[in-house]
Amino acid sequence: MAWKTLDDIDFAGKRALVRVDINVPVEDGKVTDLTRIERIIPTVDDIQEKGGKVILMAHFGRPKGQVVPEMSLEIIAPAVADVLGLPVTWVNSDYGDAVAEMDGDEVLLLENLRFNPGEEKNDKGFAKRLAGLGDIYVNDAFSAAHRAHASTEAIARLLPACAGRLMAEELSALEKALGTPERPVVAVVGGAKVSTKLDLLGNLVGKVDHLVIGGGMANTFLAAQGIDVGKSLCEHDLAETAREILAKADAAGCEIILPRDIVVAREFKAGAANETVAPDACPADAMILDAGAATVAYVSDVLDRAKTLVWNGPLGAFEIAPFDAATNAAAAKAAALSKAGQLISVAGGGDTVAALNQAGAADDFSYISTAGGAFLEWMEGKDLPGVAALG
Ligand code: 3PG
Repeated sequence: MAWKTLDDIDFAGKRALVRVDINVPVEDGKVTDLTRIERIIPTVDDIQEKGGKVILMAHFGRPKGQVVPEMSLEIIAPAVADVLGLPVTWVNSDYGDAVAEMDGDEVLLLENLRFNPGEEKNDKGFAKRLAGLGDIYVNDAFSAAHRAHASTEAIARLLPACAGRLMAEELSALEKALGTPERPVVAVVGGAKVSTKLDLLGNLVGKVDHLVIGGGMANTFLAAQGIDVGKSLCEHDLAETAREILAKADAAGCEIILPRDIVVAREFKAGAANETVAPDACPADAMILDAGAATVAYVSDVLDRAKTLVWNGPLGAFEIAPFDAATNAAAAKAAALSKAGQLISVAGGGDTVAALNQAGAADDFSYISTAGGAFLEWMEGKDLPGVAALG
């Protein structure tokens, strides 16, 4: 799909309403991870260099149409100013005269859009009110593009609209990974539950050559093949669905890679006594907490021959050592291949970035998406309303 970028629009003397995603983690009033703020720098700088004024629009948390003081963007404004190196003025929900009074390279940050019930309802009236504050709409929030909200969808139809730098970068990385990828393509999908990733798995088996399934999800697939998984996390009611996914993969020529050996323990805690056994040898009183070394060796081999990798979710209980071993080793392998220019690797979604950071592998991946839910919906093959509205 074709969408305009910052290069297609004349910003001189114009006010750009820029939808960003600065929904960042905050502890004790301090932002603990600045990544999402850092990633909007190119867009803000570019618009200012082109002579435009920047008004940032964003959400923070899920206040559900109510004013929730702990979710005010006033809390985030100082971090935005620090990261951008620009004066940032937070504007309360009345908006008032702030826009008319914008000065020099001052950036405005509008109060949490979700304080207004119209935002999540994709309300045209609220979109109109926002549109009235500017001349051009820029969407730089790929990670919120799965939401059809007033600031991501309706407003795009009211003003000249384009994608910001981060949005364009995300879309181009994702296109390389699953749209028109170099083959063979490998997907690594992990995490606790199959039930949250059914559509994603169903879509991927038709698109990738090898699908590595890890984490708690893998247990459901093992159990669906008649294997006793002891006390492991497992969605037994999804056995039939798991078998359908295996059959679909088989018909599409996609190799499903399940654990070839498993690390089992009797307690879910860091440092718990554990052993590595065959997938069908989980003791009745134990649980599977990671994939073993033989699985990692096989996955590494597949990665050696691959050209493209899409990664979502950890392969084991990565938050408690030593059950992070398979995730760390596979991530390190993918990072090394990417660094050597042999592999295009794209990762995103939920815990994934935390797991890759913990593995020390994130920096060498070709692209790390800022998106959680939007990355998953994209992997499911869904149209993202915030992207569609730019077309
Ligand atoms: C995210 O953190 O993934 C985005 O900011 C979207 O947030 P939401 O799931 O509350 O819409």
